[in-house]
Amino acid sequence: MTMEGHLDSAENRAGMLAGFGNHFASEAVAGALPIGRNSPQHVPFGLYAEQLSGTAFTAPRAENRRSWLYRLRPTASHPSFGAYANSSLLRSGPFDEVPPSPNRLRWDPLPLPERPVDFIDGLVSYGGNGDVGSGMGIGIHLYAATQSMTDRVFQNADGEMLIVPQVGTLRIVTEFGVLTVAPLSIALIPRGVRFRVELPDGVARGYICENYGALFRLPDLGPIGSNGLANPRDFETPVAAFEDRDAPTQVVQKYMGGLFVTTIDHSPFDVVAWHGNLAPCRYDLRRFNTINTVSFDHPDPSIFTVLTSPSEMPGTANCDFVIFPPRWMVADDTFRPPWFHRNIMSEFMGLIEGAYDAKADGFAPGGASLHNCMSGHGPDRASYENAIAATLTPHRIENSMAFMFESRHVIRPTAFAVQSPLCQLDYDDCWSDFQKAQLPR
Ligand SMILES: [Fe+2]
Repeated sequence: MTMEGHLDSAENRAGMLAGFGNHFASEAVAGALPIGRNSPQHVPFGLYAEQLSGTAFTAPRAENRRSWLYRLRPTASHPSFGAYANSSLLRSGPFDEVPPSPNRLRWDPLPLPERPVDFIDGLVSYGGNGDVGSGMGIGIHLYAATQSMTDRVFQNADGEMLIVPQVGTLRIVTEFGVLTVAPLSIALIPRGVRFRVELPDGVARGYICENYGALFRLPDLGPIGSNGLANPRDFETPVAAFEDRDAPTQVVQKYMGGLFVTTIDHSPFDVVAWHGNLAPCRYDLRRFNTINTVSFDHPDPSIFTVLTSPSEMPGTANCDFVIFPPRWMVADDTFRPPWFHRNIMSEFMGLIEGAYDAKADGFAPGGASLHNCMSGHGPDRASYENAIAATLTPHRIENSMAFMFESRHVIRPTAFAVQSPLCQLDYDDCWSDFQKAQLPR
């Protein structure tokens, strides 16, 4: 995907609130937002005040995330949910469909459906870990859609959703406002927030990390200092926008791994004003301030972390979202591509555009790979040979954006992932035929 789909006009930036996790206040109708209190006896215009909590009430102040929404009707007003009838390839923790295997996996790009399929029905789970009920782990999904959602919305009670578009712009209508997110940008939708995905380009494909654990946040910077990597002000949250629409609307909810549905008689995007620090946001990955060596060797790829979901173990993430953006390679006397390694953390990779510098072939945009705990991996033979033969002049990696969801918990593939013809049965071959090192005789 090129930059063509990216909207960087003033119009696209208008009406966005800047900053990660800031305390925002926004009203679509002047005077709708109560001043000085959250839940007055009489909310302006008779709106209903409603709190949405993303952390426990008692979470420490620095961790505490919640917002107050002022809406035409309370969310509580809905009929009971029933089972969602459409067949779905969406799966959830515990990921135990197939026996564990230490094998490395790689997939060809997920094809776009040949029939009309919207974002909900276009979700395909590749794997995950942990358990939604215990609030740890992640689900890893791809989506491939050919139709906008109409008269229905999605709500995920199991986790927040980090959406990584690869093909096609998404217009994500949420309770908080509207986010336009093109490839090379990401969206982060908090747990429970209702949203509708429209496809201005007619088609869309991308990746999703569904985070059951602690909320994604910016990583600590340590000796890097107070600036760098993803800077907080580059995260953008929409201003309040609402629909006053009385029409049957399906609400599809993911809850404890299953899909449920009910129908309400109005659009749930009826929030006229809101304030708080829990809201959807987007981030343009091209704004990532990439930091790397200017001497020799290269740092661990954690230097490329955009967002992290910490676990109870210090420094050991439930999930890190890591990108490999365009950057200068200048290291002296250094093998410049990613080195061979075995990692206690498990790594799921995707490619938004271009080529990844450890894999000359076989890892295509829209494809994916999985290297689990202690599985040896690294550059393929061709990439290795090129790297040791290269003249080490400054070199810029251009037009490439790979990413990784990295987790302390082993990522277990779904039955679809291992049985699909997309799964490359010859993946191991990319590390075959390495020449044996020759010791002096
Ligand atoms: Fe790795």
